[in-house]
Amino acid sequence: MTKNRYSQVFNSKESKDFHPNLLNYQYLNLKIKTLQNSLKNSEEMYKKIIMTSNDAIIMIDKRFDILFSSDKAAQIFGFWDEKSMEGRKFFDLVLPDERKIIKAIFKRAFNEGFVGNFRSKFIKKEKEFYGLVNIARVNNADKEPFALLLTIRYLEENDNVSEKELYKTIFNKSNDAIVLHTIENKKPGKFFEVNKAACEQLGLSKNEILKKTPFDFYAKFNKKIINLYLKRLRENKKAIFEVPVKKSNGDIINCEVNSHVFKYNNKSVVLSIIRNISERTDFQNKIEKNFLIMKKIMDGVITAMEKLVEKKDKYTVGHQRRTAELAKFIAKEYGLSDEQIECIYISAVIHDIGKIFISGSILNKPRKLTKEEYEIIKTHSEEGYKILKSIYFPWPVAEIIYQHHERIDGSGYPRGLKGDKILLEAKIIGIADVIEAMTFKRPYRKALGINKALDEIIKNKGILYDNDISKLCLNIFRKNKFKFIS
Ligand SMILES: [Fe+2]
Repeated sequence: MTKNRYSQVFNSKESKDFHPNLLNYQYLNLKIKTLQNSLKNSEEMYKKIIMTSNDAIIMIDKRFDILFSSDKAAQIFGFWDEKSMEGRKFFDLVLPDERKIIKAIFKRAFNEGFVGNFRSKFIKKEKEFYGLVNIARVNNADKEPFALLLTIRYLEENDNVSEKELYKTIFNKSNDAIVLHTIENKKPGKFFEVNKAACEQLGLSKNEILKKTPFDFYAKFNKKIINLYLKRLRENKKAIFEVPVKKSNGDIINCEVNSHVFKYNNKSVVLSIIRNISERTDFQNKIEKNFLIMKKIMDGVITAMEKLVEKKDKYTVGHQRRTAELAKFIAKEYGLSDEQIECIYISAVIHDIGKIFISGSILNKPRKLTKEEYEIIKTHSEEGYKILKSIYFPWPVAEIIYQHHERIDGSGYPRGLKGDKILLEAKIIGIADVIEAMTFKRPYRKALGINKALDEIIKNKGILYDNDISKLCLNIFRKNKFKFIS
């Protein structure tokens, strides 16, 4: 179009009339040709710049439709097959969340002529990417703005946010308070940097916090914990502890403080990440409270069961509790866990629960039992199991009670289990049961005493009773470590 306009003017009759001098005319003609070549070269040059640019070059009109796009633009936005994106809506390439902002930037570019170096998120087919955008306004011949020329540089993931920006973002966006303080005289000194969450947690401005030290916020001092914390700081070690923190309005929040020491400007400083754990602490307290309630209920039920048997079998009053005390002691000496010890104690306290199904006349018979009566008595292990199997315990209480009369040589009852088939808990209760029963009186006989009971264990250790538990038990009594409370 430019070339034609020049040609029309300088090749016209009027122009020849205007330049009658032939030399002058030839000179002008030469100049026009040079100008025409130069324009052609210039057009070529811009074409080459556009086509070799590593940035996407896109021209959009006032309705944000794409008028022109470079090959690189098609590549960056994933339109390889189509080579060009002309006619497409530019905003289809922009992430929906960013559209409003970009529209405002385009408006500014139309008004001001240029907007440079802003980052935006674009869509490449199904994926997203960041682009660094520069926008220049393009005017028509009447100097009216009619389009925008965009250069968009594809940013690799690592270019999206600089490392410094990344840490700054983490620092400011963290929900946990992040504070940095000095160490003065081997003790926590003043804060020199705090994040937004710290200000929100404490209800103070940054400047107000910077005048204080961590100790100004601790509501209560647990000397032991604080001393340990200071010791670890002195040793340049990580320290984690919980502390109640006082807010500016007087409220107390429970916080978990996670501190690290590091060198900053050649000085040792402390970085602390502080998490408000009030909700967690409340929850834990509720769980603990509920646990205590449940334990009380369970203890009550166990005691009720114990009393129920004793009501029926009056000669066994205290037998189960004494058996439980001894079994617990043996378990402790054996090195079992607190959980196992608790399991053994509870199982032993109700180990004869099955006797409630046996006639009182048999249980309390003051003479030797007949063979038939003894067979009835023997059913109490299984009856106990039947009563307890449907009750939830965190341990195998029902099975332990089922096995408490089993013996390791298989001569026990009701199933004649041998050796390792018998639970350790049942073996311990079995020995404690025998010792207690022989030590104290029974309806059909006088008390035999502890020595007779220990003789029974000595005689049958490794035969009826587990060898290791028997030895341990004998040792306990030899060393007077345990005494029954009658
Ligand atoms: Fe029993």
